[in-house]
Amino acid sequence: MAAAVAVDSLSKRFDTGIAVDGASFEVGENEFVSLVGPSGCGKSTLLRMVSGLVVPTAGKVLVRGNEVRGPVAGLGMVFQAPVLLPWRTTIANVLFTAEMRGESPSRHRPRALELIKLAGLEGFEKSYPHELSGGMQQRAAICRALLLNPSLLLMDEPFGALDIITRERMGFELQKIWSATRNTVLFVTHSITEAVLLSDTIIVMSARPGRIKAVFKVDLKRPRDPKTLSNARFVELAAAVRDNIEAQGVE
Ligand SMILES: Nc1ncnc2c1ncn2[C@@H]1O[C@H](COP(=O)(O)OP(=O)(O)O)[C@@H](O)[C@H]1O
Ligand SMILES: [Mg+2]
Repeated sequence: MAAAVAVDSLSKRFDTGIAVDGASFEVGENEFVSLVGPSGCGKSTLLRMVSGLVVPTAGKVLVRGNEVRGPVAGLGMVFQAPVLLPWRTTIANVLFTAEMRGESPSRHRPRALELIKLAGLEGFEKSYPHELSGGMQQRAAICRALLLNPSLLLMDEPFGALDIITRERMGFELQKIWSATRNTVLFVTHSITEAVLLSDTIIVMSARPGRIKAVFKVDLKRPRDPKTLSNARFVELAAAVRDNIEAQGVE
């Protein structure tokens, strides 16, 4: 069976220089894979090439065996800023995905309510974004991305704008949602803790130009909880990833 995502010798050169240099890796079906690396190493560019929003200079991306040549259909995306529509309630924001695809929102309402509950936003269905905390807004954005059960979920530092305590809690929330949906996820972060906590596989990128430097399999049982953070294997893996990044002489 073809991998969910196969990145093959992928490179991107901008006028400013090479952002991604010959990256190759695979994401298995239902796998949670994190891309970790210092700021500016090309993580977002790589993710955008997977989504079809940025055209590679060389190499290719296959999504389930098909070469990406334009925006990939059926993709869920979550960005650092939650980008909710301020004049829409939580439920209306979550249902926006259906409307964008020309589908009837009422048909997707039960699923939207289920996701809202799963994300711990029950009771806030009719709230507007300004009535929600940053973490709640981001959870609503995750529900919106998951509404149509995307076969591939791309997340670009989704918790980057949150304070450290909220961020950690969001990690556990995301794991809970993901355990129930098991979408294939490619997750970009520069938090090593977050990557180890959430992932099946961690791909470490080198500082610019971004190359794949190391791949770690995270063999920690799920569900992972706050106690996992002090588990010896967790500490060992996080140290191994950190050593790998520090060996680059950055961060
Ligand atoms: N559209 C663009 N035009 C020119 N340079 C870009 C563009 N997008 C990204 N870059 C450059 O490519 C490099 C990688 O950027 P990015 O993929 O955003 O890194 P990361 O997400 O890891 O922080 C950076 O040096 C950035 O300045
Ligand atoms: Mg980025």
